[in-house]
Amino acid sequence: PIMKEFSSAPELEKQLAAALNLQSCNVVSGNADESDWVKSELGRACVSRLKEVINEGQVISVTGGSTMNAVAEAFTEKLNKENLLFVPARGGIGADIKDQANTICQKMANKAGGNYMVLYSPDQVTKEFYETFIQESSIREVLMKIKSADIVIHGIGDAMTMARRRMTSEEDMQKLVQEKAVAEAFGYYFDENGRIVHKVQTVGLQLEDLKNIPHIFAVAGGASKAKAIKAYMKIAPKNTVLITDEAVTNEILKG
Ligand code: G3H
Repeated sequence: PIMKEFSSAPELEKQLAAALNLQSCNVVSGNADESDWVKSELGRACVSRLKEVINEGQVISVTGGSTMNAVAEAFTEKLNKENLLFVPARGGIGADIKDQANTICQKMANKAGGNYMVLYSPDQVTKEFYETFIQESSIREVLMKIKSADIVIHGIGDAMTMARRRMTSEEDMQKLVQEKAVAEAFGYYFDENGRIVHKVQTVGLQLEDLKNIPHIFAVAGGASKAKAIKAYMKIAPKNTVLITDEAVTNEILKG
């Protein structure tokens, strides 16, 4: 067990990175489940890491969710880089428009200073629709940008929370329970070993695209996401920078 009162944040960060086999992570104080300011802190930490790597002309792909919205909110000043392009990593998600990748991407572009593209598509599509839809030239253009992004910023969700938010069918719900899904990212569901147990056909960034992306920031906090984060990090590209909170860190380090 870790002795929290003696661990400074850099020490915690080192321990967490080692436990998850990552090169780098950031730990902010508190528990995002309990207070919104922790989410704002996650956003701020992400923006400050982003500033260390971002260059002019780069493409930044972003997912949806309330944590990503906090990242967008955390851009308090322009980045002063020419020709940044923000693209949504995927189409819509659920009903709440403020947490959709398209909305967040537009907000980031406005706040950070840059252009943006949109990707309007149902979040979950049939194979047939997918095959036809991605042939559209305007869609292809966005998809090419998404796949060639220099930077990806994404959330990680608890599997059941995300499945409920997405109004998943009873059949798929049962599958997720049966296969013991604990994590969700990019429309993929994972069990605690990081095995993909279910995938929603989404238009946008696919897991295999990540291997070509130089900078990846995963932003997720709140003790309720500890299992999800641990599971996803088993298969996350090693250049993923995890930005999380103390509550998650304590859960993961106590094993
Ligand atoms: O894929 C995971 C979700 O984007 C997480 O959403 O930030 O609202 O928990 P959240």
